Amino acid sequence: SVLMFKFGPSPAMLIHHADGTWASLSAVCTHLGCTVQYEPQADRIHCACHGGVYNAYTGANVSGPPPKPLRKFNVVVGENSVEVSRS
Ligand code: FES
Repeated sequence: SVLMFKFGPSPAMLIHHADGTWASLSAVCTHLGCTVQYEPQADRIHCACHGGVYNAYTGANVSGPPPKPLRKFNVVVGENSVEVSRS
């Protein structure tokens, strides 16, 4: 599942993968700045603007025009909370 949220002025994603791991990534495409979307059925992140694809665990740019990875944030999972922070 995915939660889209604003991290400061920019959109970001908190992804809970089917294997139980968490990832939090910037949702701003590194190509021209469109907002990317998590696609759970393919377990990937897709940018509809020009077809960019990113790894949903690491944010690595996998195919299409994006020149670099999505920014990755730190995730700390507590008993009743999930905390996301920048390093
Ligand atoms: Fe995302 Fe171009 S803005 S692929």
